[in-house]
Amino acid sequence: MNGIPVHITSVAAHVPDKRLTNADLEKMVETSDDWIFTRTGIRERRIVAPGEHTSDLAAQAARKALAVRGVGPETVDLVIVATITPDRLVPSTACLAIEKIGAKNAWAWDLNAACSGFLYALVTGAQFVATGRHRRVLVVGADVMSAFTDFTDRQTCVLFGDAAGAFVLEPGGDSSLGLLDFLLGSDGKGADLLSIPAGGSALPASHATVDARQHFIRQAGRQVFKLAVEGMSGVSRAILDRNRLGVDDVALFVPHQANQRIIDAMIERLGAPPEKVAVNIGRYGNTTAATLPLAMADALEAGRVKKGDRVVFTTFGAGFTWGSALVRWAY
Ligand code: ACO
Repeated sequence: MNGIPVHITSVAAHVPDKRLTNADLEKMVETSDDWIFTRTGIRERRIVAPGEHTSDLAAQAARKALAVRGVGPETVDLVIVATITPDRLVPSTACLAIEKIGAKNAWAWDLNAACSGFLYALVTGAQFVATGRHRRVLVVGADVMSAFTDFTDRQTCVLFGDAAGAFVLEPGGDSSLGLLDFLLGSDGKGADLLSIPAGGSALPASHATVDARQHFIRQAGRQVFKLAVEGMSGVSRAILDRNRLGVDDVALFVPHQANQRIIDAMIERLGAPPEKVAVNIGRYGNTTAATLPLAMADALEAGRVKKGDRVVFTTFGAGFTWGSALVRWAY
């Protein structure tokens, strides 16, 4: 990246207390723990309590990240919240979150890139640090997928969970550390393969859309699966190649957690050993924009990354959207 080095100086995540296990889902739809675990790697996911919203999860993760860094919320210049499950269509979840964080000097907005939202937010927020315009940026990925999940549809309801995660971005002195490179892509060709069809201007909410259950997430699982494997392995390989790096040069790959089998297929194509891959989908399911910071927070807690290590984040999501970012850990 050009400009001032952008260091990630803190990482934190927040998940709701309530666990929804595969055994719970067996009582709701025609499924089994064995089917879910074998096909997805998921054992359980977290679900918000009544009255707990996306902005609450975002604020909790953000507050933790600031506390770990040892700085107050009033020192934050900008907050970007990546989400596809906003509290309301208007105002933005980011505006609601900064009230809860106490980030009274920040400007804030939402970013929608589905499962790629956090990576898009990371890269976008980093530009404000790289130009010298801002000294402290919070990027948050937060989704309450349970609000948009059809718990009568076994094809989707087993996949998703609720969570949030946050990174603090700041200028750093050492240009060999921080966010070094990114590759992001988007197209609209897959719009009908993975979407929430109703509730927007194309299909405003009506009795008919509610009766047809069109306010819930739908996907053509097999087609998305194949595209996700190709997209995630391709973009990870591309970012390594253009930085003249091999798998051995990377300490940790942090992929979007959509399905254990997608991750396995991706790392097999890359030729990466499983011990170099962050995976926590078993405990949380697919938490959309929250998966990357949640997986990174877990990896840091387990001591899997130290200063100077290279980390590659990779994602694929609705749109379609995809990308990779190369980071050298700064703390
Ligand atoms: N329990 C039991 N059986 C089930 C379930 C379930 N929960 N769900 C589907 N089945 C059945 C199907 O009905 C089908 O039965 P049939 O053969 O009699 O017709 C059979 O299992 C196989 O179904 P598939 O959909 O072909 O199963 P597949 O192995 O593809 O797994 C899955 C489905 C897990 C959804 C997978 O396709 C997947 O992970 N897709 C990609 C998800 C993804 O990456 N999404 C992108 C990110 S999300 C975002 O951006 C918001």
